[in-house]
Amino acid sequence: MSIQQLTEKLKLGAFYTALLEQETQPAYSDLPFEKRVQMLLEAEALERDNKKIQRLLKQAKLPDRSANISEINFTPDRNLDKALMLDLAGGNYLKYFRNIILNGSTGVGKSWISQAYATKAISMGYSVMYLRVPRLMQYLQSIRGDEEYLKYLARLKRINLLILDDFGVSPLKAAEARDLLEIVEDRVNQSSLIITSQLPIKEWHGYLHNATIADAILDRVVHNAYKIEIDGPSQRKENAKKVMK
Ligand SMILES: Nc1ncnc2c1ncn2[C@@H]1O[C@H](COP(=O)(O)OP(=O)(O)OP(=O)(O)O)[C@@H](O)[C@H]1O
Ligand SMILES: [Mg+2]
Repeated sequence: MSIQQLTEKLKLGAFYTALLEQETQPAYSDLPFEKRVQMLLEAEALERDNKKIQRLLKQAKLPDRSANISEINFTPDRNLDKALMLDLAGGNYLKYFRNIILNGSTGVGKSWISQAYATKAISMGYSVMYLRVPRLMQYLQSIRGDEEYLKYLARLKRINLLILDDFGVSPLKAAEARDLLEIVEDRVNQSSLIITSQLPIKEWHGYLHNATIADAILDRVVHNAYKIEIDGPSQRKENAKKVMK
């Protein structure tokens, strides 16, 4: 077999492309053999990492991929604990299967910050899925009782970081609270959650109306979570002001 055929068989496309590059550039011939092999392997490793990140980004279905930790607005009116938030971006919460709860009124940037954490997690190789709770509930309702229901829950279970955006915006039915319990139960000591909500955490118990299910959900999610309360004005208004200037 030729080198081309062998690299195709072994799925070493980037290795082969880098080899062709080395063959066309005479400067490479001065480098030691081991160094040249190392460079080919590095090209292949880089290509694979990039492909993985592209795959993870596609799977995450983030509405806004531009959100970035380095652009979080830490003005004093927002009362954010910068050290904690930057530390979280380092990803230890993912390693230890802890959760993040982002609270605050409309427009303060909860969804945006959750997506900044999501892109950071993806860059570290974690799988992410972004879901809005109202849509998730509608979808689970439509497949409840089908084989698809268990398959979908199994799919969510495999995701390292699940983002549940807009928790608490619309009333929850008892069956929906049970769905939620299934989802959070699957994640205990296995994976992380970021939940964004306008509803203060102290109101979650009442919102989840059935006390037993509420206790079970809160015990699994809240006690294990970093809680970030965002104050200050709506970033929508702030952005609109900037555009008008
Ligand atoms: N640090 C930031 N840099 C740039 N834009 C930002 C930043 N934070 C938030 N935004 C923008 O501000 C707007 C409001 O943010 P976001 O949608 O995250 O608010 P929210 O708290 O999720 O609101 P809601 O509760 O209504 O869902 C969005 O258009 C978002 O892109
Ligand atoms: Mg939002």
